[in-house]
Amino acid sequence: MKHNLLKIRDIIFQSARDADFEINIEDVRIDKTKTIEHGHFACNIAMLLAGKVGGNPREVAERIISKIDSDVIEKTEVAGPGFINIWVEQKFYTTECQFVTQDITKYLEESFEDIKKGTMVIDTSHPNVAKPMGVHHLLSTVIGDSIKKIYKRLGYKVVNDNYLGDWGTQFGKLIYAIRTWGDMNVIEKNPIPELLKLYVKFHDESEKDSKLDDFGRAEFKKLEDGDKENKELWKFIVKKSLDEFEKIYSRLNIKFDVINGESFYEDKMGEILDYGRKEGIIVDGEGGSWIIMPDEPEDVPVLVRKSDGATLYATRDLARIKYWEKTWHPDLMVNVVDVAQEFYFNQLFFAESKLKLTNAKNVHVSFGRMQFKDAKMSTRKGNIILLEEVLNESEERAFELAKGKGLDLTGDEAKELARIMGIGAIKYNILSQSRTTNIIFDWDKVLSFEGNSAPYLMYTITRAKSVMRKSDLDEIDAADYKFSELSDSEISVIIQLMTYPNVVNHSAEEFKPNHIANYLYELAQCFNSFYNSNPIIKAESEDVRKSRLLLVASVIKVMEDGLALLGIEIPEKM
Ligand code: ARG
Repeated sequence: MKHNLLKIRDIIFQSARDADFEINIEDVRIDKTKTIEHGHFACNIAMLLAGKVGGNPREVAERIISKIDSDVIEKTEVAGPGFINIWVEQKFYTTECQFVTQDITKYLEESFEDIKKGTMVIDTSHPNVAKPMGVHHLLSTVIGDSIKKIYKRLGYKVVNDNYLGDWGTQFGKLIYAIRTWGDMNVIEKNPIPELLKLYVKFHDESEKDSKLDDFGRAEFKKLEDGDKENKELWKFIVKKSLDEFEKIYSRLNIKFDVINGESFYEDKMGEILDYGRKEGIIVDGEGGSWIIMPDEPEDVPVLVRKSDGATLYATRDLARIKYWEKTWHPDLMVNVVDVAQEFYFNQLFFAESKLKLTNAKNVHVSFGRMQFKDAKMSTRKGNIILLEEVLNESEERAFELAKGKGLDLTGDEAKELARIMGIGAIKYNILSQSRTTNIIFDWDKVLSFEGNSAPYLMYTITRAKSVMRKSDLDEIDAADYKFSELSDSEISVIIQLMTYPNVVNHSAEEFKPNHIANYLYELAQCFNSFYNSNPIIKAESEDVRKSRLLLVASVIKVMEDGLALLGIEIPEKM
C-alpha cells in the first residue's frame, strides 16, 4: 500500500490521464506549500503539461481537478500561474500517523514499494595505514555511513568495504626508516606516532639525499616479491594501525562489512593487465610503461603500469572493481572520496568501461574540505588535526554545555550524555551541510541548543518523549488514537511528517544526507511551535489530548528514524 505523498501523486497522475493528458508518473511532483492557508500540498504538473502541449496552465489545472475522484483529498484550488493546491482529508492523515506510530519500518517499506532496488557496495573511510586518522577522514566515514543506512532503509542490500591504503612505495620508505632509525621497543609502546615520526624523518632526509628514495623503492620491491622480514614488518604496521582505527570507529559506532585494503588486490591485478594487453586496450606508453589511451586525443591517458613494472593506485582500484563485481554483482558502486580525486575517478571510470569490468552504475560521491572557524585549529601548520582530538574536545564541550544548561543528571548520566551529544554533534554538523561545498566547522554552532544542531534536535526529542512518559501511555497506545480539532500548528507538523518518505528517497537519489538533516530540523521547529502553543497532557478534552499524543508519538518515530539514518544516537534523558 502506498503512503502519503505517493498516494496523492497517484491521484493527480490518474486525474491527468482521465483528462486525456499524456503524462509520466515521474513528472508529477507534490511539494509542501509555503503557508497552509494555500493548502497542504501543491503540484506544478499543469504548468509542465501546458508547456508541452500548449494551452493555458490554469485551464489545464482546472481540467485535471475536475477529474479528481478520491476520498483522500478534501479540496483543491487552482492558484497563481497554474498550481494545483491540495487539502488532504483529516481521516487520511489520521491513518497515516497511526501507521507511522505502529511500525515505521513497515510504513517506509511500503512507501518505497515502487522503487527499484538492488545491491550497493560502498567504499568509505579508507584511511592510510601507518598514519593517524586526521579530521578529514571523518567526512568520508560519516557521510558514507549515512548513505549506507539510507540505502538500506530504501530496501537495498548494502555492503560497505573499508578500502584501506595499506600498499604502495610509502611502505618501502617506512620499512627503510624503521631499520635505519627506529627502535622496535619504542615503536611497540606508541606505534602510530612513532611510525609517523619515522616517516617524516625519511622525507626530511631524502630531501638532502635522493638516494634514499631508491632505497625505499627497493624495500617495497622486496615486500612485493614476498620477502619474509619485510612482510612481517608490514603486517605489524597494518595490525597496529587497524587497532588504532578500530578505537575511533567504535567511538563513532561505525561498522564495516568488509575490510579489504589495497594490499588485498596485490595478486588480482595481473589478470586485468593480461586481458587489457591481449585485447589491445592496454598499450605501450613512454619508457615501457603501460597505458589506456583516451577517446579524445587532448585527454590524458590512464597509466596502469609504471616503466619499472610496478603497479599503481589506479591498477589496484581496477582490480577492486572487478572483485566487487565478481563477489557481489552490485547494481550500484559508490566511492565516497574527497573532491581532490575527481579527475582520478573520471580516469578510473573510463578505464573500467574500456576494460568492461562491470555494468554497475559507478559513482564518485565527492565532498569538500573541512574548514575550521576556530583559530587554534585553522592556523595549525604542518601537523594534521587528529580525529581523536576533535572527538575528545567535542565530548568535553558537550559536558560543559549540559552543565551550563543546568540539566539534572548524575555523574554517569552526564558523561553518557556528553558522549552521545559530543559525537552526535560532530556527525550532525557534517551531515547537515551540503557535501559538495566545504564543510564549515564552528564549535559554537556545532554544540548549541539553538539553531540547526544535534543538541537542539536531541533536546526536542527528549522533550517529546517526556510528554509521552507523563501521559502514562506509550507510543503503542497512541496508534489507536484519532485526530480531532486540529490547529494550524498541528497541521503544519502533520504535513511535515507526511513528506518524510520523499525526503529519504531524495537523499538517496542525490547521495546527500543533508536533506534528511534539514528535514529533521524543520520538523523540530514545527513540533516546538506546536508544543509551545498547545497544552498536551492538560488538553481541554480527552479527544484533543489523545489527538495531540498521537501527533507527539508520530514525531518521535520519525525523528528517531531520521537520526538513525544519520547514525546519530539519542540520549534517554536531557
Ligand atoms: N586511501 C586513499 C586516500 O587516503 C583513499 C581511497 C579512496 N578510494 C578509492 N577507491 N580510491 O587518499
